[in-house]
Amino acid sequence: MLLHIPGVLNREQVARMREALGAASWTDGRETVGAQGAQVKRNQQLPDASPLRRQLGETVLAALAAQPLFHAATLPLRILPPRFNRYADGGQYGFHVDGAVMALPDGGGQLRSDVSCTLFLDEPEAYDGGELIVSDTYGEHEVKLPAGDLIVYPSSSLHRVAPVTRGARLASFFWVQSLVRDDANRRLLFELDTSIQALTGADADRAALLQLTGIYHNLLRQWAET
Ligand code: NI
Repeated sequence: MLLHIPGVLNREQVARMREALGAASWTDGRETVGAQGAQVKRNQQLPDASPLRRQLGETVLAALAAQPLFHAATLPLRILPPRFNRYADGGQYGFHVDGAVMALPDGGGQLRSDVSCTLFLDEPEAYDGGELIVSDTYGEHEVKLPAGDLIVYPSSSLHRVAPVTRGARLASFFWVQSLVRDDANRRLLFELDTSIQALTGADADRAALLQLTGIYHNLLRQWAET
């Protein structure tokens, strides 16, 4: 499921983040991928150990905690601390599938990447190119969102970032291990959750709502892995 979550960061947060990233020292993005990824990846990243990455990553995590839509869509069990990248001067990332298992920092074990997330930090008109292109069974989807907006998509999908031919594209990116591994099951739960919320707002029959809520939790109980 490809889902757009608007307004994860507000204008002030985006402006502060962009200012801090403007003065940051970046490293070659190829340092964090395997040999195959390195052949197609042309961008810059904040080093994982950088105090700025840690600080800005915490801001992103705090903003996500206040987003019910993010939780409903991804059902997070673990989140990899957010990273930051920059594409400019023709920088791009060719078609690839994200690594399946990643190490959490400080000996925190591992994370299976179920959901990939990109948080846009520049306005779309500030740069040319830089679309995230996600390929699935329905074709290719081009994503280029306003600053502060997030896109979540299955980590199993083939995707790429188109070359940035003018300006620069700053973004935060991270992965979620979901309580529910299967994308189709996660989507069913999300749609059921959305329906329950809408019916609750529409003052629907309480007994029927209670039953639907029970179905939601019992499906989650069947599918959740912790
Ligand atoms: Ni990727």
